[in-house]
Amino acid sequence: MSENRCIFIGAAWPYANGDLHLGHIAGCLLPADIFARYCRLRGYDVLFVSGSDMHGTPITVTADKERISPEEVAMRSHRSIERTISQLDITYDLYTMTHSEHHFKVVQEIFKTLLSKGWIDKRVEQAPFCPTCSKFMPDRYIEGTCPHCGSKDARGDQCDGCGTVLDPKELIMPRCKLCSDTPIFKDTEHFYLLLSKMEPSIRAFVEENKHRWRPNTRNNTENFLSKGLKDRAITRDLKWGVPIPLYGYGDKCIYVWFEAVCGYLSASIEHSISKGDPNGYERFWKMEKCRHYYFLAKDNIPFHTIIWPAILLGVGGLDLPYDVPSNEYLQWDGSQFSKSRGHGVTVNDFLEEYDVDPLRFYLSTNMPERSDSNFDLDEFIQKNNTELLGAVGNYLHRVTSFIHSNYGCVPPLSAPSPEDKRILNIARERYVEALDSMEEVRLKDGIRSMMALVNEANRYFNDMAPWKLIKTDKGRCGTVMATALCVGRTISFGLYPYIPHSMKAWCRMIGIKEPSGSLWSEGLEPIPAGLEIVKPSPLFKRIEKRTVEESMDEKEEERMEQETKHVSFEDFMKMELRVGFVREISEHPNADKLYVLKVDIGEGSPRQIVAGLKEHYEAKDILGKWIIIVSNLKPAMMRGIESNGMLLAAEGDGTVSLLTVDRDVRPGSRIH
Ligand code: MF3
Ligand code: ZN
Repeated sequence: MSENRCIFIGAAWPYANGDLHLGHIAGCLLPADIFARYCRLRGYDVLFVSGSDMHGTPITVTADKERISPEEVAMRSHRSIERTISQLDITYDLYTMTHSEHHFKVVQEIFKTLLSKGWIDKRVEQAPFCPTCSKFMPDRYIEGTCPHCGSKDARGDQCDGCGTVLDPKELIMPRCKLCSDTPIFKDTEHFYLLLSKMEPSIRAFVEENKHRWRPNTRNNTENFLSKGLKDRAITRDLKWGVPIPLYGYGDKCIYVWFEAVCGYLSASIEHSISKGDPNGYERFWKMEKCRHYYFLAKDNIPFHTIIWPAILLGVGGLDLPYDVPSNEYLQWDGSQFSKSRGHGVTVNDFLEEYDVDPLRFYLSTNMPERSDSNFDLDEFIQKNNTELLGAVGNYLHRVTSFIHSNYGCVPPLSAPSPEDKRILNIARERYVEALDSMEEVRLKDGIRSMMALVNEANRYFNDMAPWKLIKTDKGRCGTVMATALCVGRTISFGLYPYIPHSMKAWCRMIGIKEPSGSLWSEGLEPIPAGLEIVKPSPLFKRIEKRTVEESMDEKEEERMEQETKHVSFEDFMKMELRVGFVREISEHPNADKLYVLKVDIGEGSPRQIVAGLKEHYEAKDILGKWIIIVSNLKPAMMRGIESNGMLLAAEGDGTVSLLTVDRDVRPGSRIH
């Protein structure tokens, strides 16, 4: 085991487009964190970074819909994601974001280097343009049917249905995301990454590394390569993003996928700078001795096994990916978690109710490592109660509380019997097996080995029946308990990468070293006799089925309420508001409080509108005024007279004030 092995770990950067959901955690952040904790325990030199992916159309589409700036969307999400990450205790050395001067600089340097080395060139292409919005429609602004799998919601750059990377021209029945209009294709100038020219070196890289990749990573990459590499546009007609570092391209920016992957390098440099060692990152990137691991969901595979290596190869002198553990999807009630579709419980919902370790434990045993898996609340409760509390907690707690109440301190492990030796051996075997699995990023296998040990340990404890033995042979019973405690330490070390809080808490409680950097072998050391054991407190809590269901229902209800408080942009746009000019006004013949108005909204003949303004305005003060009306309201009879619209007025403290415009406009002007 090389002790000074260098490990770079990157977890895919979540789009700053909403809160993190459990799918992100199970597929990306949690496995990366388990692996990082394992590596540190082994004594490797680890750099673990990620950040928020702040640019691109996922964010601008949301901003357009909410009528706020992309920056606001991205910063709001970034802060929420940061909070979740700290609640989950993901041990990034740095979690940063792509919207920073530093990141811009690194990306622009890379862009210029590739340009000067001839890996990027400029071309005029035909890009979809929406005649109604009079905008180009990059990536998520265009939707249509996927030519490969028939999914109806494929986007301009990728289809979520089958994961294929697309060209917008391939979409069948394309439409504008904002207005549903059909695009036309217009000329626009863009920069291309010359993947076709790089193909031989990319293939060589894949050939050299794919033997250690998971089948989904390998298959997806080979599939991408099998079609032959096409040059790819790496700029977009979009203003939100990293600016192109050349004069005359102010309306365009660098494609989000090109610059986001560069974040792995820019974050590494940022981390070094913040540690006061600006060149520190070089040992992770430039010495050819560092292994690079990238954790991601399967739809991100080609960007990490082809595009990012292409960029790295093009720049030259930078280390390439070693392993790219990609995960399938975690489903919620059988369908996919998704930020954009608002489907599934957010992590914040969960952590308001439960400790982080029960969640980490459940997701660790149920990660979509090789196939999709399902998040199931009943199973979560059951695993907490039977495995975490009933097996792990039960073992660690009864060993320590038995020692506390019968000995007060750790008894000596003298003259171990064959049974004692057997369980100590099993502990060693399972622990080493678990570490070996973690080394190969088979994280579910790792926790499975540890849980097998927990079951063996419980069986040993039951077979030895120390509660009986203490009455007949306190010395022998002491050896059993010292053995059991030693096995407890092995369990706590082996489970530590998965459920760090409780395992550290247990070590702290009995006053032994916590699992941390380089200490993995301590997990097998006996605990010195004479160490005082104070009264331990339980590590885990039982979860009642009812409370989970109630609390999740409540969350769901709260969300529904929130949703009804909010009107979607589409709903708002259904309402037609127009400026009108009051040409005539008369009193309603059958009602004391109503006027009848004739309002010009540029339609030829004026609209008749009945309004309850008589108590607030004299007729002469309304005549000749510019007002605002809802022009597509269903006609209504008001005391025998038809009203074809409604005028808008503000009301408060008994005063009513008509809405108007503050400069001349044409009657009928639309209000947005
Ligand atoms: N934001 C992308 C997604 O959520 C992942 C980007 S990974 C990066 O699919 F490394 F490129 F940033
Ligand atoms: Zn449009």
